[in-house]
Amino acid sequence: MTAKIIDGKVIAAELRARVADEVARVKREHNLVPGLAVVLVGSDPASEVYVRSKHTQTQAAGMASFEHKLPADVSQADLLALVAKLNRDPAVHGILVQLPLPKGLNTEAVVNAIDPAKDVDGLHPNNAGRLAGGFEALSPCTPLGCIILTKSVHASLEGMNAIVIGRSNLVGRPLVQLLLNENATVTIAHSRSRDLPGLVRRADLVYAAVGKSEMVRGDWLKPGATVIDVGINRIPKDDGKTRLVGDVAYQEALAVAGAITPVPGGVGQMTVACLLVNTLRAACAIAGLPKPAV
Ligand code: GUN
Repeated sequence: MTAKIIDGKVIAAELRARVADEVARVKREHNLVPGLAVVLVGSDPASEVYVRSKHTQTQAAGMASFEHKLPADVSQADLLALVAKLNRDPAVHGILVQLPLPKGLNTEAVVNAIDPAKDVDGLHPNNAGRLAGGFEALSPCTPLGCIILTKSVHASLEGMNAIVIGRSNLVGRPLVQLLLNENATVTIAHSRSRDLPGLVRRADLVYAAVGKSEMVRGDWLKPGATVIDVGINRIPKDDGKTRLVGDVAYQEALAVAGAITPVPGGVGQMTVACLLVNTLRAACAIAGLPKPAV
């Protein structure tokens, strides 16, 4: 038997279409155009690709997109001044500062400066704390995408054993909180965990978010498990080019898992779609409108 492949491309396209419908509705009924500002500091090639895709997809959903490119040697004060200006701008409902920032800039201070109501990355301590407390919050986009992909296979996650491998602020930690909100039983594993294969073997839901190529092996998995691979690792090929692989040994896992996300074409597709969702939600909340239908 081989695993069902969870098609992030299709699921993300459906989500973007639902966002576009709601954007059209709030425009029509309330004259509100949700706006997303993305700040890119420096010229990391991978970040430039992400930022371009955010810009295109934001506009395709009918929202306003504002791009701010700053040189890698921008001062902390100038970057904070831009964030303050975006906080005040009524056309901007979502602010995303692309990470990682170049060396010399204080990421924590920049994240803390973003208005929590516009923090569509869900990284501000207000939002992270609200999520951890089980209160309504803007939540990080990649974990939101992971939950949607899981729910494309399981209507309810209640009582399931989930393992999250990785404890970053952007993925692992918030994903744990979202899984708890879904009433899953959650193990959080990381580089110091003992007997990782043994921990993974107990899990019905496996989330790999460590950034290590093909670290999770097929024989670690419980037969029939659902595997969500958050890793995007570029590895060299024989011909001198590179290819993308996840944190899970995909071919091995296909033979054991019940369902699995491919890389590319899995989680990566969902992150930008969820960013559009968060921007729409932030815009409605700021305008005092009811929550949108997506
Ligand atoms: N870099 C890679 N993924 C992300 C993300 O979701 N948000 C931000 N701000 N930076 C990123």
